[in-house]
Parts: sequence; structure tokens; C-alpha cells
Amino acid sequence: MSTEKKLTVSCLRRKKEKNEKIVMLTAYDAATAALAYRCGVDVLLVGDSMGNTVLGYENTIPVTLEQSLHHCAAVRRGAPKAFVIGDMPFMTYQADQNEALKNAARYLQEARADAVKLEGGAEILPLVKRMVSAGVPVMCHIGLLPQQVLVAGGYKIAGKTEADAQRLIREAQEFEAAGAFAVVLECLPAAVSKEITAAVKIPTIGIGAGKYCDGQVQVVNDILGLFTAFVPKHTKRYAELGIQIEKAFSEYAGEVREGKFPGDEHSF
Ligand code: KIV
Repeated sequence: MSTEKKLTVSCLRRKKEKNEKIVMLTAYDAATAALAYRCGVDVLLVGDSMGNTVLGYENTIPVTLEQSLHHCAAVRRGAPKAFVIGDMPFMTYQADQNEALKNAARYLQEARADAVKLEGGAEILPLVKRMVSAGVPVMCHIGLLPQQVLVAGGYKIAGKTEADAQRLIREAQEFEAAGAFAVVLECLPAAVSKEITAAVKIPTIGIGAGKYCDGQVQVVNDILGLFTAFVPKHTKRYAELGIQIEKAFSEYAGEVREGKFPGDEHSF
């Protein structure tokens, strides 16, 4: 039996207290999850970004609960000891609190996730309270909310006015008081996320929110160069796998057509 200790919500909080940065990355499949865990990624988020990254949708709106659970379970199988968060898709928690609670429980019971993540502001505060008191660890997500893309008419940086910045600080504090164990800050000015990070004891995890957050999250396809249309400003490419994969696929196709593959060494 492995003696490796599993990360908990208290470990994440202690990391903040000790000024240790938290590393979070999205993962949607077992193989990637295993690699990320092996490389020391602290938290794996089975993001609803799977809509764009692996399911071929234009945004996250069409992602269903069943699809998300399916990928979450795969990530858990690939990284049994990782801290895994299931990102609840659009309309799996907004319409009805009882249904939301049952859906959240499916992440913990069926997909064996450690926590769920919810996008939203003050409107989901009562739900967060209820989930936490029922035993569901909740990570909140404020700032740019991809599930609001249709209402917002695009992806817009949040917290640019003083009033909006104050709203975000207040929301983070309210989520902390409601029992959330961490909060994602997406696409807001670094100065605002600095203030939020100082205003709460729970860890802040930024994406496009600057260097002052307690941790960072990135979409795995972005940092690996698998999304080739453009490089989002908040991303750094750590590999160009898109280019390498194209090269490999072309070489494979060419060798099959030319009768160079398989060779005798690949045959029985
Ligand atoms: O779905 C996702 O990948 C996310 C991150 C961008 C935080 O919510």
C-alpha cells in the first residue's frame, strides 16, 4: 500500500499560511492526470473547459453533468491520490438547490472527486452554505464567468471599476464565511486579486489574475500548445504539442501510404 499522503482542504489552507504557492491544472483524462500528478501538480480540476478543449463545443454551456462525471471519474482513475475537483457544468446547480446538492454528491460518490467548483456570485451564496454544511467541499469561482458568456456577450475582464472590484472582494469574503475552501479568480486586474488575496484566509487561485494569488490554474491544452488558434494573454506555452502532433500524424500517414510502416520489427 502506498504511504503517499493525500492533499486535503486543510493542506491547501496551510499552504496559504506558509506562503507556498498552490499549483492547479485542468485534466480531462486518466493519462494526463497521471502525468500531472507525477510532476507535482497539487490540484487537478476537471474543468467544464472540457467543452472547448476536448468535446468540440464553442463554449462551456453545452457540457452536461454526465459528460463531466465521465471525465472526472477518468481523472480519478489516472491519479488515485490527487486532489481532484469536479467543475459543475451550466445549469447543474443554478436551478434548484436540492438537485444541485444531489448532483454535487455524484461527484464525490460516483466520480470520487474531493470537491466541486461552482461559478457565480452572491446568487449562489445560500447554495454554497448548504453544500458545505451537507459535507461537500466547495471551491468558488468569481471574476470572468465562462458560464455567463451568452449573457455577457463575450469574455470580459472583471473588476475594472472600483465598484466591481469592491463587489469581487465582498463576494470572496462572503464565500469564505459560507465555508468555501478556496476561490478561483478569473481574468481580473492583478491589483484587485492582490486585495482579494489579502482580504481572505482561504487560498485564491488565479487564472489571468496576476502573481499575487495563492496559486495558479491553467487549462492544460493551453500550456501544452494543443489549442493553436491563438495564445490567450493569461497563458504561457510550456510545450508546442500541437506542432509535434501534426508532425507525428503526417509522418505516420506518409509511412503507411508508402508502405514503410509497419516494418518487420513491428510484425509478429
Ligand atoms: O473550466 C475550467 O477550466 C475552469 C478554469 C479556467 C478555472 O474553470
